Amino acid sequence: MRAVVHDRYGPPEVQRLEDVERPVPKEDEVLVRIHATTVTRTDCGLRSATPFITRFFTGLARPKQRILGSELAGEVEAVGAAVTKFAVGDHVFGSTSAFRFGAHAEFICMPESAPLAHKPAGMSFEEAAAVCDGVVLALMCLRAADVRQGQRILIYGASGSIGTAGVQLAKYFGADVTAVCGTKNLELVRSLGADSVIDYTRQDFTGNGEKYDFIFDAVGMHSFWRCRGSLKPGGIYVPTDGIGNLFLAMWTSKIGDRKVLFPIPRYTKKDVLFLKELIEAGKYRAVIDRRYPLEDVVEATKYVETRQKTGNVVLTVGAGR
Ligand SMILES: NC(=O)c1ccc[n+]([C@@H]2O[C@H](COP(=O)([O-])OP(=O)(O)OC[C@H]3O[C@@H](n4cnc5c(N)ncnc54)[C@H](OP(=O)(O)O)[C@@H]3O)[C@@H](O)[C@H]2O)c1
Repeated sequence: MRAVVHDRYGPPEVQRLEDVERPVPKEDEVLVRIHATTVTRTDCGLRSATPFITRFFTGLARPKQRILGSELAGEVEAVGAAVTKFAVGDHVFGSTSAFRFGAHAEFICMPESAPLAHKPAGMSFEEAAAVCDGVVLALMCLRAADVRQGQRILIYGASGSIGTAGVQLAKYFGADVTAVCGTKNLELVRSLGADSVIDYTRQDFTGNGEKYDFIFDAVGMHSFWRCRGSLKPGGIYVPTDGIGNLFLAMWTSKIGDRKVLFPIPRYTKKDVLFLKELIEAGKYRAVIDRRYPLEDVVEATKYVETRQKTGNVVLTVGAGR
């Protein structure tokens, strides 16, 4: 099968298409023919080994996992003897779990128990490939902050993959959402349900006198110290990036009445099933910026690394095109 591989850490160009052996499903696994996948910021971080600490999980000298890609949608090609929930021909979507990857390829084997589910009715493969990562990461942050009905929350970086998921999920949980993004994405985040929007190129929300229960820094580009004055007493700041926030989380757990939380992602089938329900109920939609064929993975990656994508960048694979 064709797959995008990389054998050393480095710039987007270390990735290349190669013919590799097609995986064979074990007893409890399904073999999925992938029609669409995505390039995420996590793929980029792992490929470039940024920050350096990721090497402790992905291989000190060179990447242990040659094939990146953590989200997919496709069709079940074969099942192991013990598989009961999926059958050949089923349309599926999901996520490969933390640090497993392998979706930038024509086929992937996944355990039946993996974060994999039947594709939501009426959704294309491209859309279904582009929903899991942002949702799982946004969910973990919203749950950590215990977002509830009536809370005032501010989402900084509301137009990225995690941000667009965060806006939709926070609205689903009943929060009052202020979304912060750049000028070109104001209409988009409004259409996702944000109650109010702030253009960060024109207004610094930290100076507008408003107070929030929860500030979700979905692009990890703000800071607790700058946001602190915009949090109500007891308020919570959750960033998605910045290793220093781990120490701030420990510090604020002991001192002060405004907390930093820095949750660790967990990818579960339960969350993918929850997402499928939301999509089928019309309460969640995919946000796709650009689509590239798998062959153009280097171009797609360069675009993702501009940090200016809106929502998600999809790679179409084989028949998915
Ligand atoms: N904690 C974890 O486990 C985990 C996992 C994956 C990713 N991450 C991190 O989470 C962050 C977000 O990932 P993502 O995929 O959602 O990001 P993304 O899709 O690449 O974010 C792109 C968006 O960021 C916005 N942006 C760029 N510069 C900005 C600025 N200075 N202020 C506000 N917004 C700005 C842009 O919005 P406008 O065009 O509207 O300006 C763009 O739409 C990344 O830092 C990534 O490394 C963390």
